[in-house]
Amino acid sequence: MAWTFSQRAQKLTSSAIREILKVTERPEVTSFAGGLPSSATFPVERMRAACVDILTQAPAPALQYGPTEGYLPLRDWIAARHKVAVGNVLVTTGSQQGLDLLGKVLIDAGSRVLVETPTYLGALQAFSLNEPQFASVPSDDDGVIPAQLTQELTQGGRFMYCLPSFQNPTGRLLSVARRQELVRIAADAGLLLVEDDPYGSLAYGGEQLPTLHSMNPEGVVYMGSFSKVLAPGLRVGYILAPEGLLRKIVQAKQAADLHTPSFTQRIVYECIKDGFLGEHIPKIRKLYASQCRTMLDAMTEHFPPTVQWNAPAGGMFIWAKLPPHVDAEVLLEKAIAANIAFVPGAPFFANEPQHNTMRLSFVTVPKERIIDGITRLGEIIARECAAK
Ligand SMILES: Cc1ncc(COP(=O)(O)O)c(C=O)c1O
Repeated sequence: MAWTFSQRAQKLTSSAIREILKVTERPEVTSFAGGLPSSATFPVERMRAACVDILTQAPAPALQYGPTEGYLPLRDWIAARHKVAVGNVLVTTGSQQGLDLLGKVLIDAGSRVLVETPTYLGALQAFSLNEPQFASVPSDDDGVIPAQLTQELTQGGRFMYCLPSFQNPTGRLLSVARRQELVRIAADAGLLLVEDDPYGSLAYGGEQLPTLHSMNPEGVVYMGSFSKVLAPGLRVGYILAPEGLLRKIVQAKQAADLHTPSFTQRIVYECIKDGFLGEHIPKIRKLYASQCRTMLDAMTEHFPPTVQWNAPAGGMFIWAKLPPHVDAEVLLEKAIAANIAFVPGAPFFANEPQHNTMRLSFVTVPKERIIDGITRLGEIIARECAAK
């Protein structure tokens, strides 16, 4: 049987790194590569009880088709949390679907899409199917630099994709002043902002900064997710958008999957309706803060002084910069041979990849293994640094 792939599909490639990282499933590998939340935080008993309740009290609607916009009580909960009207809320099948749908309704081939430097790889992949031209907005250790949003960059831009809180891959947090400046400049330039915020509530200190969306709901599309605060396997996220834009996204979602599963939406709602997240999220923060501290301390002790990294105030990632001559993809091969994995940073750049960067996740690895893995990774890095 012969088939012809669409031109769009022909451009899809499987990343070489993904192939290398397949080995991370082996138990002997200490993997700092994953973007997964810790399964120790999944509220299993609460979900079991929720499933029993749902199947006892409302089996038919839970197992039936539902509205594309989502399960109304869950939409109401989201609307109340973000102080928007329920008509501005669409439940999505994870926020990854939100990225896919936004790409479909906002990007034509050749459209300019602005992104941070670096940015979330999954967003680059989702948007790429629509063949945009990515424009990278310069960023520093404190996140994207609003003053760099020149007219030349914003002109004709369909939107700018922003990750202000504990960005994947860098863990960076954008200050309130930069948030305000970004929102103001974008509004003046008529540029739509897309705010992706799966990690915002995982601030170790507990204090959440105001979202871009809260500063200008008419100019910002917001994406939230229950993946990092409940469980990613449920595949429940959401979009907040001005009504006219949301209507178009709903049409695209209808074509994609009719609706997010009725059953998982109800599980989420049953779990959270009594204020459960208020007690659950602090536990996740505490665990991740402590794992993060362990990794940072081990890095300070065992990484060569020529390596730089940030100390994130929340989220799941540390971003490290190696000396300019060290290529993290080459380093990864050597690390894998020693049963250690991480993600090289280059694929997270839409343009001009920085090959001497790497992302380390600390959330799923027990502390003893973090210390052992970082110790051995430090030795491998030291050898690479000395090699030239
Ligand atoms: C920045 C960012 N956006 C979106 C997603 C996708 O999350 P979801 O499970 O809600 O689809 C992730 C997942 O890791 C992410 O890091």
